[in-house]
Amino acid sequence: MTSRAIRNLATFTLQDGGGVPLVLLHGFPLDHRMWVACAEHLPPGIRAIGVDLPGAGHSDLDGFPPSIEHIADAVYRTMTEAGEGNAIIVGHSMGGYVALALAERHPGFVAGLGLVDTKSTADTEEARAKRLRIAAAVDASQTVDAVLGMPANLVGATSTEHRRNLFPLLDSWIRAQSPAGVAWSQRAMAARPDRTAVLERLDAPVAVVVGAEDTITPLAEAEHMVRAAGSPAGPAMGDAALTLVPGTGHMSVVEDPQAVAAALGLLHTHVVAHH
Ligand code: MLT
Repeated sequence: MTSRAIRNLATFTLQDGGGVPLVLLHGFPLDHRMWVACAEHLPPGIRAIGVDLPGAGHSDLDGFPPSIEHIADAVYRTMTEAGEGNAIIVGHSMGGYVALALAERHPGFVAGLGLVDTKSTADTEEARAKRLRIAAAVDASQTVDAVLGMPANLVGATSTEHRRNLFPLLDSWIRAQSPAGVAWSQRAMAARPDRTAVLERLDAPVAVVVGAEDTITPLAEAEHMVRAAGSPAGPAMGDAALTLVPGTGHMSVVEDPQAVAAALGLLHTHVVAHH
C-alpha cells in the first residue's frame, strides 16, 4: 500500500515585512505569479506570501483525489509548518474557494479573509458538467489546449481594448501549467459545496473585491458574500467590505493591481485593529 501524505506547497515571499502575513492564493489555471504585481503595490511592511496550489506552478500533485478541502489543508499545513500562527487568507477565484474551505476547516488560523473575483456558491449542474468535460479533454490530449481560450473571458472589456499586453502574459502562465494539474483542479472545483454559511460564522474581517466587468463571478456574487459576512456575528468592516474595481474583469488583480493592493492594505489595517 502506498502511503499518502500532504506535501508542503511551494511558497514565495512577494513582499517582506512583519506581523500577520497575507497569504495569496491564485485562480485557475494560473499560479502565484498572478499576485506579483499586486504585492508590489501593497503598503510597505505587510508581509505577502504567494502559494502555488497543488498541481500548479512549482507544486506537484500529491496523489490525493481532487478536492478543494485537500488544497485548503495543504495550505494550512504548509503555513503552520513554516511557523505561522495565523494569516490573512486572500484568494482569487479558485483561490477564494480554497480560502473559504480553509476558513471552514481551520477558523482559528484565519485572522482575515480577502475574497477577490470569487464566489461562495456552488456550481450549477451545467457548470459542473462543463468542468468535467474540460478535465476529460485535457486528460485525453495531455495538453492544456482546452483552457487556452480562457483569457478572452478572464479580462474585462476595458482590458480587452486597452491592456492588450495582458493576453500574452496570461497565455504564457496558462501554457506553463501541467495538464494533470489543470484536470485535477477542474474536478476539485466541480465537487465543492456552497460555503456561504462559512462567512456568516467567521469571526474575522472579510474584504470582498470584484472587477466591475467580471462576468465569471459578477458583482451579484460579491454582494451575496458581503451580505453573509456582514451578518451580526461578524466584525464591522465599514466601507472596506466591498471594493468594486472599475475598468477590470475577473482578473482585477492583474488588470489593476494597485486598486486591489489598496483594498488588501485596508483589510490588513482592519485585521490589526480587530486583534
Ligand atoms: C478562476 O479564475 O479561478 C476560475 O475561473 C474559477 C472557476 O472556474 O470557477
